[in-house]
Amino acid sequence: MKNIEIVSVGKYVPKKKLTNADLEKIVETSDEWIVTRTGIKERRIAGEHEKTSHLAIEAAKEALHNAKLAASKIELIIVATTSPDSNFPSVACLVQKAISAKQAVAFDISAACSGYVYAMSVAHQFLLTGMYKNALVIAADQLTTMIDWQDRGTCVLFGDGAGACILACGKRKGILSEHLESFGEFGELMKVITPETRHPSKPKHSSGELPYIRMRGPELFKIAVNSMADCVEQALKKAKIKISDVACVVPHQANDRIISGVARKLKIPKEKFFINIEKYGNMSAASAAVALYEAIEVERIRKGDYVILVAFGAGLVSGAMVLKW
Ligand code: UT7
Repeated sequence: MKNIEIVSVGKYVPKKKLTNADLEKIVETSDEWIVTRTGIKERRIAGEHEKTSHLAIEAAKEALHNAKLAASKIELIIVATTSPDSNFPSVACLVQKAISAKQAVAFDISAACSGYVYAMSVAHQFLLTGMYKNALVIAADQLTTMIDWQDRGTCVLFGDGAGACILACGKRKGILSEHLESFGEFGELMKVITPETRHPSKPKHSSGELPYIRMRGPELFKIAVNSMADCVEQALKKAKIKISDVACVVPHQANDRIISGVARKLKIPKEKFFINIEKYGNMSAASAAVALYEAIEVERIRKGDYVILVAFGAGLVSGAMVLKW
């Protein structure tokens, strides 16, 4: 079996902050409600002309810089996103063009907030089979473009951002195991509503209404806790590692109380989890990627540590990976 390691990471978040006080001016909410029910204090919002590909390109550039790797050497680019600039071209192809990764095969995958774990897992399989020697994996999302800014149940939760990593065959075993779960039967709990669609029977029709997110939060909450805890347990079993050996758990950042629930279920102290939700809210696929970046940056993850990456999102889809740093 080949060894696949994470060679470097990168991140990008837009400069503009949207605080809870700003949201109090838009919908009937309060800083107190948002902080106590979610843990979020502020989130980043992409500029009007800053698309998901811009976020992805910046994160990719940093990961390449940190790996001291020329873009021309990248063989595979996978972008996890559910908010691409448009249906096509893919964000991955836009990144490929921007960084001149002419040799790379590029495509997007859709796994909502679990996108980073899913994309890493897909890249991992390509590298294990020997089809490619390295991969640039990016998670980039801009869900704020799909928010109904009159729905206080969703508009306080989301922010924009991107994270990236470079995976390559190496001497050390970096990815020890992965476990993915999908529950299509719960798809109704979180979806993007497309108000109207075009059809040849209505040739003159052009809808002015934009798609928006609807979510059944409390129901999602319970499934999120159970499936994230289950994915961690299954991934640990595959890696033959005990939870007590793990130095840091890097979870998707949807709600601070979801993370508390997962910690309780796994019977581990919450301090083992890296949490940055207060600064960014839920950045969908990018949340776990940016959290991994920042956990490394502040040395919550050190060389030799066992680390778990775990996420949950619309679909519903969840997944976990055990990494050796
Ligand atoms: O990324 C993966 C997908 N996302 C998730 O997994 C999210 C999972 N769900 C959650 O994080 C939580 O369910 C939410 C944060 C979305 C909501 O928190 P909650 O504690 O489950 O609140 P709730 O929806 O049960 O609402 C409780 C009350 C309601 O008022 P009433 O009916 O009790 O009078 C809501 O109308 O809180 C009200 N409420 C708000 N109040 C002030 C809902 N949103 C807000 C708000 N500000 N922004």
